[in-house]
Amino acid sequence: FIFTQDNLKKIAAYKAVQYVESGMVLGLGTGFTAKHVVDRIGELLRQGKLKDIIGIPTSKKTHEHALSLGIPLSDLNSHPVVDLAIDGADEVNPFLNLVRGRGGCLLREKMVESACKKFIVDESKLVNCIGGSGLAMLVEVIQFCWKFTAERLRRLFEEAGCVAKLRTFGEKEEPFVTDNGNFIVDLYFKRSIGDLKGASNAILQVAGVVEHRMFLDMATTVIVAGELGLTVKNK
Ligand code: A5P
Repeated sequence: FIFTQDNLKKIAAYKAVQYVESGMVLGLGTGFTAKHVVDRIGELLRQGKLKDIIGIPTSKKTHEHALSLGIPLSDLNSHPVVDLAIDGADEVNPFLNLVRGRGGCLLREKMVESACKKFIVDESKLVNCIGGSGLAMLVEVIQFCWKFTAERLRRLFEEAGCVAKLRTFGEKEEPFVTDNGNFIVDLYFKRSIGDLKGASNAILQVAGVVEHRMFLDMATTVIVAGELGLTVKNK
């Protein structure tokens, strides 16, 4: 058996789905790992092994995917209490603080998963220090005067050698627009930004900022799949 990264994501996803019970309102994540979760839930529903599940998708992409599998869907307006949310992560530190939202779906993920109980990752995502793997700090900002907002963000972290770039896509480098119609500013740091909570609060206080990708004190369980097996880390 060859452990590709995708196999590990699938193993972690299947383990996480074991926590799902019939009748639950489920936060459905976004990304490669979360796709395996949604596939598995669809399969168990089809087989009749799970019943009366209501999924709350964290992105348009997941919404479409879950719909195609016949998973009944709703939203936080109709179902404000989410029993369990399962999603992937980009970085996990020893305190189960996470960096997430690589695909740009951080805002809906944070809204749905603020009541969350679980995250799953493959081994490659474990880090000692958040930001240590050189990932950009995504910040979702409103389009209005985004350059002004980006500059204010850059200045916040001047001592960390911050560079702020608008996220673009395609050859024409069009601005990437989130599911909520906002832009993403990627912050790159040359040095550590230090206290994560302090950084989080400072970012959120900048007018024009909608959300950032740090998920601090939110995950209660992280399931890690590696070549040596599964590890379940509880808060
Ligand atoms: C997707 O937007 C993300 O929220 C996740 O944080 C993450 O990118 C998931 O990683 P995988 O795609 O590797 O599961």
